[in-house]
Amino acid sequence: MKAIQVSKGGGPEVLQVAEVKLQKPAPDEVLISVKAAGVNRSDVLTRQHPDTYGGANGKKVIPGLEVAGIIKEVGNKVTTRKVGDSVCALITVGGYAEEVVVNEKLTLPIPKDFSFAEAASLPEVIFTVWFNVFQQAKIKKGEKLLIHGGTSGIGIMGLQMAKALGMPTYSTAGTDEKVHFLTDMGVNQAINYKKRDFEEVFKDEKIDVILDMVGGEYTQKNLDILAKNGRLAYINGMNGLKPEINLWTIMSKNLILTGSLLKPQSIEVKAKIAKEVQETIWPLLEDKSIKPIIHKTFPLAEAADAHRLMESSDHIGKIVLLVE
Ligand SMILES: NC(=O)c1ccc[n+]([C@@H]2O[C@H](COP(=O)([O-])OP(=O)(O)OC[C@H]3O[C@@H](n4cnc5c(N)ncnc54)[C@H](OP(=O)(O)O)[C@@H]3O)[C@@H](O)[C@H]2O)c1
Repeated sequence: MKAIQVSKGGGPEVLQVAEVKLQKPAPDEVLISVKAAGVNRSDVLTRQHPDTYGGANGKKVIPGLEVAGIIKEVGNKVTTRKVGDSVCALITVGGYAEEVVVNEKLTLPIPKDFSFAEAASLPEVIFTVWFNVFQQAKIKKGEKLLIHGGTSGIGIMGLQMAKALGMPTYSTAGTDEKVHFLTDMGVNQAINYKKRDFEEVFKDEKIDVILDMVGGEYTQKNLDILAKNGRLAYINGMNGLKPEINLWTIMSKNLILTGSLLKPQSIEVKAKIAKEVQETIWPLLEDKSIKPIIHKTFPLAEAADAHRLMESSDHIGKIVLLVE
């Protein structure tokens, strides 16, 4: 089969089409004939440092954390899926390919009327937001949620999920166009962080939960704008992983600092997320309360251009690869 393989870390040009060996599903796995694969920011790290982030250990790695397609084969212990089912799935590696194998528990049905591209854009962002904001930070209806990087794949989905479940939403983004997009989407207040200091704007809002991917100098500001008993969840630190913070802020407001990496979680942890989002979020996708936003699609062979777009940060929403 054809796949995009990285044999040496580097720029987008290292994403080359290669002919790779077909896979067989293990007893609890399904083999998916991939129709679309989501592109995520962490695929950029896998491409740049395949040994560290792709788990390649000197071997070639196929990036890609999420796909949608049709089940072509099932392992002999699979009970919930059958050949011919249309599914989307969370995977740990290997999505930029014509076929992929995955545990049946990490597959979800494609929501009614969704294209393969739309379905492929869902698993990584929905699982990440659910794990951090809902399971770890335990947000409740009516509590205020701030997500930085609001027009990222994560931001657009997380803000919609929270709004649909009854939480007022706040966000930051890097251009006025992105801010307009967020306010049109129904975010209560979004600001251009290049023009205004988010701490100044949100200091009186008493935010309950913040999902942050920026880190660095944002960290103390995040702690400062949280309400008593607030929770701060980290999924990245794009501006710095070693910020200096004042512990007094945490102690004086009973704050909780958390964070996670989705990829290394066990199948059991991911299966619990899958079950909960199928019950809670899938109906909201089907009744269109939450809509996937695809910024652009690329043919699989043009994965390098997809990465160039992602690294430009010009996109609003998800970038998806289409597999012929
Ligand atoms: N921990 C986990 O398990 C997990 C899982 C999924 C994603 N993530 C992380 O969540 C973040 C969003 O992922 P995604 O795939 O949705 O990304 P994405 O669509 O590429 O969006 C990232 C956005 O962040 C904003 N940004 C703010 N500061 C930035 C900086 N210093 N460098 C680059 N961009 C910056 C940019 O928009 P502006 O114009 O607004 O600056 C950019 O468009 C990434 O950092 C990713 O690594 C973590």
